[in-house]
Amino acid sequence: MRQFVLFLFLILICACESKNNKDDEGKKTLIVYYSQTGATEKVAKEFQHRLGADIVSIDVVEPYAGDFQQTIERCRKEREMNVLPELKDVDIHWNEYDTLFIGYPIWFGDAASPMQAFVKKYGDSLRTDMCIIPFCTFGSGGLGSGIHSLVSINDNLAPTIAFGIRTVRIDSAACDEIDYFLKSHGIIDGDYEVYPDYSPQYTVNGAESEIFSQACDGYPMLHATPISVGIRKTSKGTDYNFIAKDDDSPENAKIQVIISVHDGSKPEFTEVIR
Ligand SMILES: Cc1cc2nc3c(=O)[nH]c(=O)nc-3n(C[C@H](O)[C@H](O)[C@H](O)COP(=O)(O)O)c2cc1C
Repeated sequence: MRQFVLFLFLILICACESKNNKDDEGKKTLIVYYSQTGATEKVAKEFQHRLGADIVSIDVVEPYAGDFQQTIERCRKEREMNVLPELKDVDIHWNEYDTLFIGYPIWFGDAASPMQAFVKKYGDSLRTDMCIIPFCTFGSGGLGSGIHSLVSINDNLAPTIAFGIRTVRIDSAACDEIDYFLKSHGIIDGDYEVYPDYSPQYTVNGAESEIFSQACDGYPMLHATPISVGIRKTSKGTDYNFIAKDDDSPENAKIQVIISVHDGSKPEFTEVIR
């Protein structure tokens, strides 16, 4: 009987080992993230849960303590002075990993400065043969511009895929969207729906303008007027890719606003691309 229990125990360990993160060549996946208020941490842990990856959180020597406004002020000063915060050291055995997920909040359209500091400090360890996959959380958007800020510090990053989600959608949508992201990019196995392309853009009608205002209503940082839209139907409902005039921009800039209308629920914007 004791031998049988030992046997079961060994099988369990082997099962955990194989979920825990080794590919055929014995290389592993690492998730490194910075999170000031916990949103990015939730997403990082969801990735870890799906991938069985190792995970490391980074922190700054002098934390961004205080409320939102204090963080904004400190961050603004650091940006004006062109300085990045000093990071606490982390102990990472880089050679064990062939895939690196890096997660961060968007600050002023860029990757949060602690993640910029990380990419600068550990730049030599980010090998070109490593698959680097950024992910971020944001109030309204910044997936593309956030990556740009990291690549401009270290072009070894040059990621081909990335994931982003609005803070307010994490609890309701992060599990499904991370699952979809990992499956549709072949990182984990499983069936997934292949979404059609958006239709060509056409001038918005009254009903679409109403969807736009319902989705943006209550978000104080977004004042825009929809001009044209392309749509796609999915099994969940309809996605809208609006081109809108940014009413806050003195140059009359145009922005892209992606809005999902899932059957039976209120329209919500998923990302603003400036
Ligand atoms: C200093 C600062 C600047 C921010 N700038 C932006 C921004 O430019 N665009 C945006 O969509 N959200 C912005 N946000 C919102 C954060 O990206 C968002 O709340 C994020 O999910 C926080 O992640 P965390 O909880 O992991 O720290 C900013 C937040 C802070 C504190």
